Amino acid sequence: MIHVLFVCLGNICRSPMAEAVLRHKVKEKGLHQLIQVDSAGTGDWHVGKPPHEGTRNLLDSYRISYANMAARQFESADFSQFNYIICMDDSNAANVRNVPGGEEAELIKLMDLLPDETLREVPDPYYTGNFEEVYRLVDAGCDALLERIEKEHSLVELR
Ligand code: 4NP
Repeated sequence: MIHVLFVCLGNICRSPMAEAVLRHKVKEKGLHQLIQVDSAGTGDWHVGKPPHEGTRNLLDSYRISYANMAARQFESADFSQFNYIICMDDSNAANVRNVPGGEEAELIKLMDLLPDETLREVPDPYYTGNFEEVYRLVDAGCDALLERIEKEHSLVELR
């Protein structure tokens, strides 16, 4: 089983969108028994809350489920439970590094999966209001991540 964790600041806009989008793709590919997806925020303000209305509307428009999703805070134990920790921006990565156990952890920035994009961070729609922009980046980033996972893990492990 491969475990993927998306991380942003509040865990109500970007990382839950990425969680829902990747889970949707994983299910479509029939890999849901093999790849497990979660998300967390480095802040604790929204713990227990469903995704932001903007993320919910966006996901509704693409018919992607966000059922049973609730915000939680990133914690030390996540370092040992997840194979891939994907941060939305530089400050998320810095915040994760500051959690005990994070100094040496391997972190991936979502935009590092998309080297041809000019943007190097996923803009925060909590401030920009642009949830479509996040979807475009997250959708492409999830495709790139799945390709990377399929390359890094043998088919025997994945199937
Ligand atoms: P997110 O957006 O990190 O993409 O979930 C934010 C949500 C809430 C806050 C900041 C960013 N906030 O300050 O409450």
